[in-house]
Amino acid sequence: MIAQRRPHEVRGLVRRGVGGDAKGLEGRLGLDGAIRKLVPPWHFEMLNDSERTAAFDAALERTVEPDALVLDIGTGAGLLTLLSAYHGARHVVSCEGVAPVAETARRIVERNGYADRVSIHRKWSTDLSPGVDLPERADLLVTEVVNCGLLGEGVVPTIAHARRHLLKPDAVVIPAGASVHAQLVECPRLHRASYVDTVAGFDFRPFNDLAALEYMPARLSHFPHRALTDPVEVFRFDFATGELGGDERLVSFRVRRAGRCHAIALWFRMELVDGIVLSNDPANTDSHWEQGVQSLERPIAVRPGQTLTVRAWHDTRHLLFLPPGAPRVGNGAGPPT
Ligand SMILES: C[S@@+](CC[C@H](N)C(=O)[O-])C[C@H]1O[C@@H](n2cnc3c(N)ncnc32)[C@H](O)[C@@H]1O
Repeated sequence: MIAQRRPHEVRGLVRRGVGGDAKGLEGRLGLDGAIRKLVPPWHFEMLNDSERTAAFDAALERTVEPDALVLDIGTGAGLLTLLSAYHGARHVVSCEGVAPVAETARRIVERNGYADRVSIHRKWSTDLSPGVDLPERADLLVTEVVNCGLLGEGVVPTIAHARRHLLKPDAVVIPAGASVHAQLVECPRLHRASYVDTVAGFDFRPFNDLAALEYMPARLSHFPHRALTDPVEVFRFDFATGELGGDERLVSFRVRRAGRCHAIALWFRMELVDGIVLSNDPANTDSHWEQGVQSLERPIAVRPGQTLTVRAWHDTRHLLFLPPGAPRVGNGAGPPT
């Protein structure tokens, strides 16, 4: 299988490109499938998100000291590594767990003239060892392993592990912290994307047993919807110094408008350094990050002045809302039972 080939073989095939004949095209399509399995297409939109680039650029310009050893976890194509080197880091050690991405990042760093101050490891950060992969523990961690619901790419356990094993005790951590926010919305279209009722007069509700529990990414502005409540902060993380474990809490939404609550929309607010914030709140339609939307299996009728309380739960990677009446999940340390 092409996906299991060594990265340089995949690269060689990519360079050869599509031949003029059907056989060449067939090969290229097979390769395309293999690449897509390893390299999600959001990499391109993410790299072209100029607000994201400007925020990390400003944060690194402010924090990188000339003698700093910077660790970039999840380097992707190498953008934060190049910015760290550009802002004067003594050395940047980077890791990327997906082999063809790591290999490509190496080429990009070389092409831009920074290969002498950058080492890229084709490894997951949990496999790095100071003294082997890094000359010593790092002075500064920069990492952007964040999805639309903040936690889905493992930013919390990744930073927790790095703080324990890869960073100096007083290391700077970018992002310094983040919070997750949520709002109740009326949106039949989003509900139809997650649950089914009757179709042609037949009862299809048993199919809802196969519905996803967790939120899915969706750009709220692309769906006709009404916000029924103000946004509420759900969870907050201090990446630099805080405890980084699972959590479970009750969240109360004050209803502002009468309607049917079909879904809970969520997004993050990530503070890279003091005063430099990135957010995928619904008003930010330019961000490459969409919002997360968790539909409720049974929509709830709400009226102004009412308070709706839901249980919010996360285990540092997964995040769920349990509507009123749903069974408790546990203490936040393990997955739902
Ligand atoms: C969201 S992308 C960000 C890429 C790059 N840091 C940037 O900002 O342009 C995250 C990348 O990190 C990689 N990744 C996620 N967690 C990782 C980890 N713990 N160790 C190494 N690579 C990781 C993924 O494979 C992906 O390529």
